[in-house]
Amino acid sequence: MKVLVVGKGGREHAICKAVAKSPLCDKLYCAPGNAGIAEVAECLPIIAEDTHRMVAAVKEKEIGFVIIGPEIALALGLADELESIGVPCFGPKKLAAEIESSKGFMKDLCDRAGVPTASYKRFTDVEAARKYVEEQRPPIVVKANGLAEGKGVTIALTIEDALAAVDAAMVDKVFGESGTEVVIEDFMSGEEASFFALCDGERARFFCTAQDHKALNDGDKGPNTGGMGAYSPAPMIDEAMRKRIMKEIIDPTVEELKNMGRPFTGMLYAGLMMTKTGPRLIEYNARFGDPETEAMLPLLKSDLLELLYSCACGRLLGVESQWEAGASLSVIMAAEGYPSNYLKGSVIRGMDRAQAIPDVTVYHSATLRNQAGELTANGGRVLCVTATGSDIVEAQRKAYEAVDAIDWPEGYYRRDIGWKAVAKVKGAKG
Ligand code: AMP
Ligand code: GLY
Repeated sequence: MKVLVVGKGGREHAICKAVAKSPLCDKLYCAPGNAGIAEVAECLPIIAEDTHRMVAAVKEKEIGFVIIGPEIALALGLADELESIGVPCFGPKKLAAEIESSKGFMKDLCDRAGVPTASYKRFTDVEAARKYVEEQRPPIVVKANGLAEGKGVTIALTIEDALAAVDAAMVDKVFGESGTEVVIEDFMSGEEASFFALCDGERARFFCTAQDHKALNDGDKGPNTGGMGAYSPAPMIDEAMRKRIMKEIIDPTVEELKNMGRPFTGMLYAGLMMTKTGPRLIEYNARFGDPETEAMLPLLKSDLLELLYSCACGRLLGVESQWEAGASLSVIMAAEGYPSNYLKGSVIRGMDRAQAIPDVTVYHSATLRNQAGELTANGGRVLCVTATGSDIVEAQRKAYEAVDAIDWPEGYYRRDIGWKAVAKVKGAKG
């Protein structure tokens, strides 16, 4: 089978590496890819947003299966276009992907399906939104309805801040069309976890869990980013909790989408708040997480391509993913200044030294080879340094050993990825 992976980040590098190992894969393409992905796949210079050229390339190269990484390609209907030319793909069609691209749609669906989440109201009228905010007790959560690269959410600690967030989205349009509607919801407290389930349109099967660190700085402080690190599995989710989440959250969602005539095929990624009264849904994503995928896939024993292809063909019945025991941890190395202004083009050295450490993989999130053939930074999040170990303590130690082996003065990273999980293990060992 000829396979195409769509995307260019660390997530897609991890997917490409796993798919390249499969005996089912004869030829692997990635569009547009990056310098690391180019070591395992043939990169095609087509951006994820350019769905028409993507489909043309699929036809021209006689690609038999497509795996879609980024949400934008899903929201633009790449899966629908592929279906129209009869090519199976992993990733939902546009209407099912609304579970991520429209928070209002997602909340209404949860309401009907009885999925536990924060109570909410949707607004397209700014005056009505302001009036509602004034009746609430902080903290108040204000969300732009559409895709906003993780930046559309404000946790307002005062009424004034919540009003400012409403204005920013609806009047100043800082998220463009994504803020035409806002969702205002109750604040939930607890620890967050990412829960992944494979779906074939009819049914869902548990895949894996992880936790990510969204904040820029150590101690989970500072502005939110696309993610500064992750680890897997999530220690809070044992088998009993996993079954409960499937039963109370994932299965009713998949059933409701099917009943609405929007069957979901792909990865259903639930962002959960583990509250005192049980797991509650924060949001859904319609894809693999980044950087969670980089942390999860090194532990996967099953053939990833076979799993994803089974989903696309509606044959998930009886399929189970098998995982190594132990833990995995990923540290993002970003360009200094991320998530605001950062420079591209600085040279990264020491990759071989880092990768020579046993159980370490350095995924590329945004890299480019310059004319001299040197590896350079080509975005905000640049590398994702991952290590596996018998437990999270060992995985963390090895990951930072690899980070320290990388010579990149312009890089920035957190020093404490996995701190909560590590503290628990160390505490248990006394
Ligand atoms: P989202 O893009 O919806 O995942 O929100 C981004 C982040 O905002 C989440 O990972 C949470 O940390 C936080 N968040 C979103 N909604 C809530 C809520 N209702 N209560 C508390 N925190 C929230
Ligand atoms: N890890 C957050 C995301 O992929 O959206």
